[in-house]
Amino acid sequence: MASSMRTLTVDLGDRSYPIFIGPDLVANSALYQPHIHGRQVMIVSNETVAPLYLDRVESALTDYRLARVILPDGEQYKSLEILDRIYTGLLQNRFDRRCTLIALGGGVIGDMTGYAAASYQRGVNFIQVPTTLLSQVDSSVGGKTGVNHPLGKNMIGAFHQPQCVIADTSTLDTLPDRELSAGLAEVIKYGLINDPEFFDWLEQNMTALVARDPAALAFAIERSCADKAAVVAADERESGQRALLNLGHTFGHAIETGMGYGSWLHGEAVAAGMCMAAAMSGRLGWLSGQQVERIDRLVEAAGLPVHPPREIPAERFLELMAVDKKVMDGQLRLVLMRDIGQSVISDDFDPQALKQTLYAV
Ligand code: NAD
Ligand code: GLY
Repeated sequence: MASSMRTLTVDLGDRSYPIFIGPDLVANSALYQPHIHGRQVMIVSNETVAPLYLDRVESALTDYRLARVILPDGEQYKSLEILDRIYTGLLQNRFDRRCTLIALGGGVIGDMTGYAAASYQRGVNFIQVPTTLLSQVDSSVGGKTGVNHPLGKNMIGAFHQPQCVIADTSTLDTLPDRELSAGLAEVIKYGLINDPEFFDWLEQNMTALVARDPAALAFAIERSCADKAAVVAADERESGQRALLNLGHTFGHAIETGMGYGSWLHGEAVAAGMCMAAAMSGRLGWLSGQQVERIDRLVEAAGLPVHPPREIPAERFLELMAVDKKVMDGQLRLVLMRDIGQSVISDDFDPQALKQTLYAV
């Protein structure tokens, strides 16, 4: 077993599972075997990731009856229509309820494979093998799965926890810089939610992270996963505090849907969304101007946008924000900040502060 591997646990009672983090893990059969219960394994990947890593994953699984489904690459394919290809592959191969699905790719593949696993024959096992920074620090952990609808991001889905997460940090070597930055948005998010010490560390180490320093990346991935695992363990189905993980997402999802899926990367939209949440918190008097500035500077240093696209007028932005899973009885709830490292879920804000934030673009 790789000596530099770290293992964290998502503590969910009898559904607890490990997150393995370290270099050179994708071909390590010992990591998969205890988490595969039947003999049938379906690997789901996409046209970009499969040529890079599929052979290595398959080399670790020679004891199983293997099948594969390779999907087109892109957020615009995270749809019910493309999801059907996974079900078709499972049925054509006569896979039964003891099969295991393996998601090899970024958050799009992870979310789609997880949802296929949640729904195929009312639920089968799956393993997450995340290959983007964003999926290693966020989407592979916590069991949110699903697809987009043309009218709303991630609107169709289910909670379905994986058997384990294998986060091979070596796979990040082939990740484009723009995608690395997108992942850093979710990393910054954890500092802003409830980990001010991590936020300070990120301010000191953002240059090293952008330069892909292995030690800095390993620390950031582990800390992010630990922060997320703690929130998920306390509130798996988002009846309360888990909604904090959506900091920047109500604004961000509006950007993604409004611009057309795939135009802005999810992490870019979240980055601008976090800056909008910070600006609004500043308008409410909850953050100082200096704190808002610190957040913008860190997001900028990660190579991310601090402003939303000008193409979405404020009225349209508000319409898009109304299609959000945090809306309850028609009331918009937002994740805002009372301090750096102290985010809150609130429906008790001056609507003028929201309007001013949108019209300030
Ligand atoms: P992605 O899955 O589209 O991957 C980004 C790009 O990188 C793709 O082109 C992909 O093919 C490519 N890629 C992946 N791994 C690579 C590698 N190692 N080398 C080279 N290229 C590689 O995007 P993402 O940023 O990973 O994930 C975004 C998605 O995750 C969104 O759909 C978002 O809604 C979802 N998400 C889900 C959760 C959750 O809790 N389930 C959390 C955050 C985000
Ligand atoms: N990314 C939000 C969540 O997992 O809850």
